[in-house]
Amino acid sequence: MSITRRGFLSTAVAASVAAGLEGQENTDASRHVEPMRAARRPIIICANNGYNYLDDAFSFLKNGGDTLDAAIRVVKGPEDDPNDDSVGLGGLPNEEGVVELDACCMHGPTRRAGSVGGVRNIKNVALVSKAVIEHTGHVMLVGEGAERFAVAMGFPRENLLTERSRKIWLLWKQFHSTDDWWGPGLASPQFQFPDAGPRSELWEERLRRMEEHAAKLGIEPEFRMAAIRRVVFPPTGTIHCSALNEKGEISGCTTTSGLAFKLPGRCGDSPVIGAGCYTDQDVGSAGATGSGEENIKVAGAHTIVENMRRGMSPQEAGMDALKRIVRNYNGDMNKLRFMDMTYYVLRKDGAYAGVSLWDGYSPTSPHKIAIHDGTKRSEKTVALLKGVSQEFPPFPNIPKELSQDSEYLK
Ligand code: GLY
Repeated sequence: MSITRRGFLSTAVAASVAAGLEGQENTDASRHVEPMRAARRPIIICANNGYNYLDDAFSFLKNGGDTLDAAIRVVKGPEDDPNDDSVGLGGLPNEEGVVELDACCMHGPTRRAGSVGGVRNIKNVALVSKAVIEHTGHVMLVGEGAERFAVAMGFPRENLLTERSRKIWLLWKQFHSTDDWWGPGLASPQFQFPDAGPRSELWEERLRRMEEHAAKLGIEPEFRMAAIRRVVFPPTGTIHCSALNEKGEISGCTTTSGLAFKLPGRCGDSPVIGAGCYTDQDVGSAGATGSGEENIKVAGAHTIVENMRRGMSPQEAGMDALKRIVRNYNGDMNKLRFMDMTYYVLRKDGAYAGVSLWDGYSPTSPHKIAIHDGTKRSEKTVALLKGVSQEFPPFPNIPKELSQDSEYLK
């Protein structure tokens, strides 16, 4: 379905009205964007995949632990988890089957930054980005140099490609290895949506063959459709975390295995200081998960922190960055529905917000931000646009097993 510019504007208005209404509900992240509180308490915010690691990090922070160390405690959880295929060990690999990780961090109290991109064979790249701060005069190391630096710092080399991720990659090679990232991207004037022609009718057969091949590869039946979804719509899972202590010190970090099946050497937003993460001790901290290429173009995390410096609330600051992404596509919903972005925003006074371009990936899985400020919880983000995103790349007539219930696709 195509959406006209006028349609977009009314959608955007409806979305902001919806956001305003949701803001009155207790379960919504937007209620925490009110004026600065006088008293400070420690608080950690992160992408929802950090939820399980918040208790440990919060008690560390409360007992006087450093804010960056606390944030890294959170993101290290998914980095170490072989079943989280968006980060660290077990991350989905590049198109050659090699896992390449990106991370960056900023330490507010000492106003320093570290970053690593395209790192192979080292699991805890958030810690490596911190080592860049502590043991070099540089800010960013990439590729082989970053790996060698990590080894010199005592990080073990290990194979990051788990059997589970290897099988998903093999499935991708079999069915999609010529379709993905080499063509003109969504932002290109040359980008063409595939026609809903005879090719699309082959989907049922294609899906059947993918399931068959997944079974041959030994992918468990209960994970098969999820694995196929990852093949058809390569994800960009990531984790960001920002932490603030009682003294008002603030830090942030972001880590990822990046876009699945990417070209070797592709770095998304996560290792880019100012895009995937930005912290300013005078103002606050912000980080991102989602479409890395889109976020780099609006320098999302830096934009948000600067917006707060100029007086915007965390929610307003995040929404403004999202609007810049919409502006980069002139509000073209046909393209915007194929991308998504979530920002995690923490102001120096403890006010926070989670904002996203769309409500979620499906009506049943809204985007969430996880918070610990003495009480651990997850809250829905406030979305700029109403509805759910459709993952990239676009295909006509997606079978119902793979499709999402986007109202824009009805
Ligand atoms: N946001 C993660 C990536 O695009 O790599």
